[in-house]
Amino acid sequence: MQRKVILTGDRPTGPLHLGHYVGSIVNRLKYQGEYETYIIIADLHTLTTKPYLENISKISVNVREMVLDYLACGINPEKVNIYLQSAIPELLELNLILSMIVMVNRLQRIPSIKDMSIAAGLTEVPYGLLGYPVLMSADILMVKSNLVPVGRDNEAHVELTRELARKFNYLYGENFFPIPEAIFTDSQALVGIYGKTKMSKSLGNAIFLSDDEETLRKKVMSMFTDPKRVRADMPGEVDGNPVFIYHDLFNSNIDELYELKTRYKKGTIGDVEVKKRLFGVLNQFLMPIRERREFFKSKKGYVDEVIFEGTSKTRKVAVEVVKNAKNLMGI
Ligand code: ADP
Ligand code: TRP
Repeated sequence: MQRKVILTGDRPTGPLHLGHYVGSIVNRLKYQGEYETYIIIADLHTLTTKPYLENISKISVNVREMVLDYLACGINPEKVNIYLQSAIPELLELNLILSMIVMVNRLQRIPSIKDMSIAAGLTEVPYGLLGYPVLMSADILMVKSNLVPVGRDNEAHVELTRELARKFNYLYGENFFPIPEAIFTDSQALVGIYGKTKMSKSLGNAIFLSDDEETLRKKVMSMFTDPKRVRADMPGEVDGNPVFIYHDLFNSNIDELYELKTRYKKGTIGDVEVKKRLFGVLNQFLMPIRERREFFKSKKGYVDEVIFEGTSKTRKVAVEVVKNAKNLMGI
């Protein structure tokens, strides 16, 4: 039996943070080896809202930093194909083919397009941004992916992919493309260090996987806690308190967790102490990640090799799929 194919990926817009770790990396580590796994570095998708040179010059740095983050977390390139979207020209053929069978008003109804243009401060929507979900569909169908783990913000894109796969199959060949399924993490998006909004690199509230010890200490000590608690001897709220959300996720010492929560609720421990303990926990968590990152960084040319290998393997698949799709269409 052929293994199921799984495709995930990120836009290389900056370093990965703890939100990415709990929201997607954990799952990738779980699935690698079990499925035929691809990780796309979606550099073309970053151009949909930022096509200017200043951004473009950052992309190649971000690509390498992101791959270092993957490797540092334990993503194993022996088990996973990590590939660069822009290095696969066949993808653009498939993108064009799909653009013939998708209607403009269908794309205009997808809320994320508007959200992305507002977030990027655009007053008009570029053709490429309207086509964001079509390009993503081409990514997914090009490797005939069965499963697509994504955040809820990408749900509508996978829904469109399903429609396009069905439409292509109906027009040109029954069962050519599998109908992919989105997988969502159960957990809610991880909140940023100042609470309220999700952790995001653009909001300045993120702890990056590559943060050094001092940066981490400063960030943790500046975290928000229970806003109603103004003195350390007042009882405090644990639920929804960012410091405890992080303790819950990263502190595996159940007894310590229980002690901290009980004392916090009674008002017998200060915010500074709970944060210091959190710093210890996160530092322990990030230490091996930092060490592996340094190790891979010091191996000259290794990251480029990983990308080259993964892209070469993926391109072979792409050539075959696009050739067969065109054959079915008679072109
Ligand atoms: P950012 O908001 O930092 O720019 P991205 O837009 O690059 O993050 O996020 C890409 C994907 O990473 C999202 O679709 C989601 O799956 C995951 N992700 C990002 N931030 C978080 C978070 N705070 N909690 C959980 N998952 C997240
Ligand atoms: N749109 C995804 C994001 O929000 C990135 C992405 C592009 C992707 N193509 C993909 C994810 C294919 C999964 C599968 O960052």
